[in-house]
Amino acid sequence: MEELRDRVERVVRQVVRELLAAGQDLPELSGSRGRRRLVVANWKMNLLRASARQWVEAFPESSDRHCQVVICPPAVLLWPLAEALDAAGRDIALGAQDLHPEAGGAHTGEVAAAMLLEAGARYVIVGHSERRAAGEDDELVARKLAAALAAGLCPILCLGETAPERERGLTLMRLRGQLDLALAGLGHPAPDPAGLVLAYEPVWAIGSGRAAGADDAQQAAAFLRERLAELFSFAWARQVRILYGGSVSGENAEHIAACPDIDGFLVGGASLRPESFAAIVQASRRQAAGKEVSR
Ligand code: 13P
Repeated sequence: MEELRDRVERVVRQVVRELLAAGQDLPELSGSRGRRRLVVANWKMNLLRASARQWVEAFPESSDRHCQVVICPPAVLLWPLAEALDAAGRDIALGAQDLHPEAGGAHTGEVAAAMLLEAGARYVIVGHSERRAAGEDDELVARKLAAALAAGLCPILCLGETAPERERGLTLMRLRGQLDLALAGLGHPAPDPAGLVLAYEPVWAIGSGRAAGADDAQQAAAFLRERLAELFSFAWARQVRILYGGSVSGENAEHIAACPDIDGFLVGGASLRPESFAAIVQASRRQAAGKEVSR
């Protein structure tokens, strides 16, 4: 199987090389055409019910056709936030920060996909590096991803290299390994590409105040999209949204949002303050609207 896949990859690369050599255009894999931006707040283990409600009151943004806004609060806040957003008539989706791979049963302290859906979640973060660091391995990430998809939740699959991996030039190899292992169990037919999101989150950038440069973020996102194209198809890979996460701020968002393969952000620290998260949403929206005008 491995051998067959390697052979297919070699053939695809050869075809691409030949098309390029012949001066022919390839179907455009990058470019945000048709992909709605997605800006996600990962509140991690922060805020309580009252402060979450205040956050919603102070946050001036909603989703629009350019940009979908999502909040991933601690699981116990999903329900009250769903009520608060509903009462305020705000178009902001909710997501969870984790799920259990089983549909139910004797798993003390865990939360299943159907429970998250019932509490108002439409998205779920899978394989965040903070969970990987606490012992979650690639096999568990793959099972969680499959459980989310089976339940109709849109997984936001987190991938990223550590600082030592980056220093040793292993970033792309690490990303490929994490992606392949997470998707290994999916089989065919491929899931709806609009119902799967990747988040490139270099571990060294998270919470450090040092975001990846736009060129590095774009290179990683383009690599992930190319790999998706190899695993599924060009047409499929073009529809998957790829986010960047790691010290995103109102100041650096616009620059990174201009990258053709970056479709939005997964935001930690800056999402706790409504005004800084709003600045990130606005930067993403400006980029999306600008691209539309320049088409
Ligand atoms: P920061 O934005 O605080 O770096 O966190 C990023 C993150 O982990 C989002 O999932």
